[in-house]
Amino acid sequence: MSTDNTYAFRSGPQSVRRRWLGGGVLLLVLGLGVPLYQAWDPFFPERTPQYDSLETHFKYGSIGNEDQQGMPYWLWLVLPRVFSDKLPGPGGYTALGLLWEKGQELPVGFSRKEASISLVSPNCALCHTSSYRRSETDGSPVIVSAGAGQRFDAQGYLRFLFECASDPRFNADVLLPELEKLHGFSWVQKQLYRYVVIPKTREALLKQKQHFAWMDTRPAWGPGRAETMNPAKFGFLRMPDDGTIGTAEVPALWGMKARPEGVHHWDGLNPVLREIVLSAAIENGTSSQAINRREVGASLQKVQDFLLESAVPAYPFTLDPERVKAGAAVYAAHCASCHGAQGQGTPQLIPIAEVGTDAHRWDSWSEEAAQRFNDYTRGESWKLSAFRKTAGYLAVPLTGLWLHAPYLHNGSVPSLEELLQPPAKRPTSFYRGNDVYDPARVGFVSDKPSVQRGGVTYTLFRYDTSLPGNGNGGHLHGVELPADSKLALLEFLKTL
Ligand code: HEC
Ligand code: HEC
Repeated sequence: MSTDNTYAFRSGPQSVRRRWLGGGVLLLVLGLGVPLYQAWDPFFPERTPQYDSLETHFKYGSIGNEDQQGMPYWLWLVLPRVFSDKLPGPGGYTALGLLWEKGQELPVGFSRKEASISLVSPNCALCHTSSYRRSETDGSPVIVSAGAGQRFDAQGYLRFLFECASDPRFNADVLLPELEKLHGFSWVQKQLYRYVVIPKTREALLKQKQHFAWMDTRPAWGPGRAETMNPAKFGFLRMPDDGTIGTAEVPALWGMKARPEGVHHWDGLNPVLREIVLSAAIENGTSSQAINRREVGASLQKVQDFLLESAVPAYPFTLDPERVKAGAAVYAAHCASCHGAQGQGTPQLIPIAEVGTDAHRWDSWSEEAAQRFNDYTRGESWKLSAFRKTAGYLAVPLTGLWLHAPYLHNGSVPSLEELLQPPAKRPTSFYRGNDVYDPARVGFVSDKPSVQRGGVTYTLFRYDTSLPGNGNGGHLHGVELPADSKLALLEFLKTL
């Protein structure tokens, strides 16, 4: 855990000036300034949605990224209705795996901010929230914040928005009548939507589509995985497309207080939690100017506080105490030297040649990228300076391991039972995005091509281990153990 927990943001006259300027910046929806909005905005108080409960804030608070990632709320809401043909099933955004809690206005992972138009933008919980169900007919998934979100398809979400914008139906004649079914708009607001909001949002989405075109030359992420560093490299760090594949499994972020210092990211590319929170915010569209605003600094502080305090979820199914005891000894003998006595992780970096897992993610990060990220915030009072290139993958924390599935940095092995088999016996293809838990294999159900949710059948994503970046080899620890030791170890691993 990092000891440097302070969020240094500017205060005093500067922040007051910025608040007024911020009104204008706010309305550069998706980075596009519209003078008409600017003229109006000072009359609207700026409110960055924040919640007292750290967990509610994590799920629904703002990370201050509205100027670059904000979508006009009503427009965002209407897209799945008009373009339902572009979604993998019924249920609007939930078809992409988003979690929508009963009684909430937005799915987990989004905040809504009122400016001269209402904006919705994503936050950290969009990817970092897990859920599980006990069976296909179980109608109430258990939602676990700060989890290794396995259901949400981040790339599918981006592509849905890009495809909407590329469709000729993305125009005021089609969208306005649909918008009016949701909300009463004044004559002036309708003109705003017709002549500014709709065309500018379309333009901005098409620009982002261009920006993310490099994704199409790599294997699909599928639910529960994302590229986080290549978008930064090819985007604001201004590096050319180097052809690398950095797709990674979304890691669990809970219980960080118990983690040793420096144990972050699959390859340990930055050991300081505060820097990772700040850089993750930047990667998700929070600008330097926004970070300098007191309310955004306070919001990011709350996100970090939540990660430190969030509870590790206990295994919810029956355990065999005898086996757990026997398994603890197997763990101590074969695993603890790297992963720590309680599975809390260690800062040990295991060279790729030794751990033997897929090297693409490791290769995608470089000295140069680290240097550029460290230089990126020069001149700010909250500098980033700890980015580095490391020698391998970290011996990652195993706390709450039962809910990390699929396993390894690229999510290439669906269950713990299969991870304890030699690579030749691990499945070469399986289905991701299922939220029904399989206590026997210790992971999510992965051999069914579809899943039922609320009586609706959703097609799942087929993961192919032969594609570049998807390799399921390596990490041979425990694969040679006798069958009874493996069973015992599996039982113990459920308790971490
Ligand atoms: C689009 C999905 C996505 C969003 C949104 C997202 N993350 Fe992540 N996050 C990931 C992935 C994938 C990784 C693993 C990256 C890697 O190492 O290659 C990660 C890694 C991390 C890590 C390092 C994990 C560890 O072991 O210490 C932290 C901390 C983190 N994210 C925090 C955040 C915060 C804070 C936010 C919001 C400001 C955020 N993330 C938003 C997908 C996401
Ligand atoms: C020599 C050090 C070392 C030993 C010993 C070791 N591991 Fe690992 N383990 C690693 C590294 C490094 C990774 C990350 C590899 C990757 O994701 O590509 C890892 C990853 C894992 C993961 C994936 C975690 C996740 O969130 O997906 C699991 C599970 C795991 N190890 C379990 C075990 C078990 C069980 C043992 C003992 C039988 C063990 N490890 C022994 C180094 C080790």
